[in-house]
Amino acid sequence: MSLPNINPISTNSWKKLQEHFKTIKGVEMKNLFAEDSERANKFTINWDDFYVDFSKNRITEETFKLLLELAEEVKLKEAIKSQFSGNIINQTEARAVLHTALRAPKNANFKVNGINVMAEIYDVKQKIEGFTNDVVNGHRIGYTGKTFTDVVNIGIGGSDLGPAMVVDSLQYYKNHLNTHFVSNVDGDHVNEVIKKLNPETTLFVIVSKTFTTQETLSNANTIKDWFLKSANQEAIGKHFVAVSTNVKNVKAFGIDENNIFPMWDWVGGRFSLWSAVGLTISLAVGYNNFENLLQGANKMDDHFKNEDFESNIPVVLALISVWYNNFFKAESEAIIPYSQYLNQFATYLQQGIMESNGKSVDRNGETIDYQTGTIIWGEPGTNSQHAFFQLIHQGTKLIPADFIGFTKSLHGNQDHQDKLISNFLAQTEALLNGKTKEEVVAEGTPKDIIPFKVFQGNKPTNTIFINKLTPESLGKLIAMYEHKIFVQGIIWNIFSYDQFGVELGKQLASKILQEFNSLTINNHDSSTSNLLNHYKNQV
Ligand code: F6P
Repeated sequence: MSLPNINPISTNSWKKLQEHFKTIKGVEMKNLFAEDSERANKFTINWDDFYVDFSKNRITEETFKLLLELAEEVKLKEAIKSQFSGNIINQTEARAVLHTALRAPKNANFKVNGINVMAEIYDVKQKIEGFTNDVVNGHRIGYTGKTFTDVVNIGIGGSDLGPAMVVDSLQYYKNHLNTHFVSNVDGDHVNEVIKKLNPETTLFVIVSKTFTTQETLSNANTIKDWFLKSANQEAIGKHFVAVSTNVKNVKAFGIDENNIFPMWDWVGGRFSLWSAVGLTISLAVGYNNFENLLQGANKMDDHFKNEDFESNIPVVLALISVWYNNFFKAESEAIIPYSQYLNQFATYLQQGIMESNGKSVDRNGETIDYQTGTIIWGEPGTNSQHAFFQLIHQGTKLIPADFIGFTKSLHGNQDHQDKLISNFLAQTEALLNGKTKEEVVAEGTPKDIIPFKVFQGNKPTNTIFINKLTPESLGKLIAMYEHKIFVQGIIWNIFSYDQFGVELGKQLASKILQEFNSLTINNHDSSTSNLLNHYKNQV
């Protein structure tokens, strides 16, 4: 069973939403709140340790009903079932999409081509656990007999962003190992990391699903050359491990088969942190915390699979996002975590969301004439308040925003926490209500300054309030966005799990690289030819 294939704009609910939009676009949310004292309760989902308030959106009960109808009409239920059943829903790459299996309990039944993959998954998990414990406890040692102090993750895209974001987010839970991430092919990245390292005490984890990625292989080779200046070839076995589906290429690089952590083609790169791609996470915070991260994601999977759409967090967030993207024509969405630990969260989601849903051809291969993938950006509050919030509050663009906060702090300093959360709450209140001319006047503002101090308000936000930042709650939060991506892809009738859009630039770069060392230059547009010649003349 493949995915349903329904043009969203041909559905009845879409047409109804278009009509309905005309009545909603001028409505002030603050009036909706004034008219209905139950509004916040009606539009809040209380699930586990998540409190998701979506009442500060430009929706009414009618909007919500129509959006839910849209989910039914595009056969979202069928699509969810199809994904979890291991069907080949990544049709353009002929693959199943089963990152959810990676966090499922051992007795689950996830089949790929008729074979239950749980045994394989648990074999790899056992290997991750054993390896993590050996490194963390000092049983596994370097070539001069010293225990490891540093771990370097070498990878890019999904083989970097997920592990890097989680390690950063879970800093509080970290052990003694120092972790580093090398991703960019810019030599400054690897050089700056190497500077801090002692080859005798450093473990290198090369993560590349394909083991053909230019950036990762260049960085891995540079590091290997640097390492071999102090150690001999044999020492590679103690210091280099790889996570990949491409055993042949890993072995050709010089890594022992026992040091390869397998992954599978039914796990997409940007959804792979739950697999051995998360080895650096496990090393950094210990296997139990890694397991808790997986368990949190699994709880969100169950919620997504089983909950009615009206109280299904990823479904509701996806529908609201479609409402702004396709009807209000909002171009972007901001993700604002009120936690410095989630510093890299928006960057991580940029790949997850934009690589998945940045598509302009539907599931029939037809060019589409409606908007798809949103532009994602964001930074933690309160820093972002002192940076780009001016534009969200008083600019001309509509920017729906997710505010993510934690009721309990990890640091335990209640003074800081109260100040943080007061800002967290105040910003969404300000975005909702704005400030009227009358209010500005009442503050005694000089007449000529009044218009500049007015806030229109009516700016939509979701508040995702979670009890505490733990490996488990982080797992839930990441999985929540993964499922939101899926729902949006289903509604937009696109394939969310390929990424052909990254190929063209790679192909041209490899041609241009060859031209640097050749006397002839291929036929380029005049701009590219000039730039290429400029570079060649300079180096
Ligand atoms: O940027 C394209 C991409 O294929 C991503 O989807 C992937 O996460 C990244 O490159 C890295 O790929 P690999 O793990 O094969 O090195």
